[in-house]
Amino acid sequence: MTKHDFSDWWQRPDLCYQQQQLYFSGHRVADFARQMGSPTFVYSARRVRDNIERVKQALAVVAGQRNHRLYYAMKANRFAPLLTYLKQTGLCGIDACSPAEVEHAIGCGFMPGDISFTATSLAGKDFDILARYDDLLFNADSLYAIREWGKRRPGSEIGIRINPAVGVSRASNQLLQYAGPVTTKFGIYKEQFSEALAVAESYGLVVRRIHFHTGCGYLTDQLSQWRAVLKTCLRFVDQVPTVQRVNIGGGLGVPHVESDEPLNLESWASIIKEFFTTRDLAVDVEPGDYLVKDAGLLLLGITYIEEKESTRILGVDAGFNIAPEPAYYKLPFQPVPLSDSKTVARTPYHVVGNINEALDIWSENVLLPDMTDEHYLALINAGAYSSSMASNHCMRGQFKECLLLS
Ligand SMILES: Cc1ncc(COP(=O)(O)O)c(C=O)c1O
Repeated sequence: MTKHDFSDWWQRPDLCYQQQQLYFSGHRVADFARQMGSPTFVYSARRVRDNIERVKQALAVVAGQRNHRLYYAMKANRFAPLLTYLKQTGLCGIDACSPAEVEHAIGCGFMPGDISFTATSLAGKDFDILARYDDLLFNADSLYAIREWGKRRPGSEIGIRINPAVGVSRASNQLLQYAGPVTTKFGIYKEQFSEALAVAESYGLVVRRIHFHTGCGYLTDQLSQWRAVLKTCLRFVDQVPTVQRVNIGGGLGVPHVESDEPLNLESWASIIKEFFTTRDLAVDVEPGDYLVKDAGLLLLGITYIEEKESTRILGVDAGFNIAPEPAYYKLPFQPVPLSDSKTVARTPYHVVGNINEALDIWSENVLLPDMTDEHYLALINAGAYSSSMASNHCMRGQFKECLLLS
């Protein structure tokens, strides 16, 4: 029988060393790298499904009389086989943020009524496309959006995205917050909320949903802030008697480094429950990160190892342009060797990419065993906001993607 070794913080039953070889979702990662080459993103359908089921199970305690719904934020990862797989599970709808995302989701099997739409700065031509879909769940993020929707679909039901001026994010990272002390473009503030309701009424629009999404990546340490967000948002909700559902956004995070305590979903849900037991409202949620981030690896080819001053540099064959979160948000990646031996001492490496831009460092001073004879390396947590945000900077935008269905 195979013995699991969970001595690294990120190891778990479907991502761990077995006889010193890294396995992911039942596959030996080194075989995969040898066959597919690099850079390659590998996603585990089973892990995504487990993540969805965990969130749904937690939310079930909140549901009360009405059913909650889960919309997957496809901006996190729009790989078509993954979206079709998700549709076939029947476990979730889609959160889309552009007409092209709506069309892509429909192309992958979702129906317009499965799609919750929340975008920003839409053009007239965007509204024209969106208004074609009778059942699309449209959420307006500005007075302008209410007016434009009202002109095209008077008398319809809408949602309103609010901005509570309070946000929550991983380690209170302001780069990941959409609501807070700094004024942002996301949602309608309390100062304009009455006017927003009046504009909706003037077009006969019925406000059925309040939506908010105030930041990304929050973990257990940020749950008191999450509570403050909910409390503030429900002051908006209580002003609108026609509201039936509250979409509490995404933002649920996964650990990036050893010191990150994973999000305790039971505590998360009990905070939600606290506010919803006295209200006859359904709760919807639209996570991206939590569902797919830890379900993806990025396989990288090792190009060279060399000392620069007293730092050991390990080069790989892809740069931050194909997984930009470290550059945009200072979110660290964890590099992982494809084989490991407890008897080999680990030493610090800087893992760097192949882009002549910014510093292009995947990870600083990461402890790795001797990598001299290794050909590949994996970055974990590469399932979200990596391939979907990739650019062709330096004309190094090529990568492969594959979905493991078993
Ligand atoms: C409106 C909205 N909903 C949901 C999400 C998904 O967020 P996350 O991937 O952090 O769960 C985002 C991400 O930016 C968003 O803007």
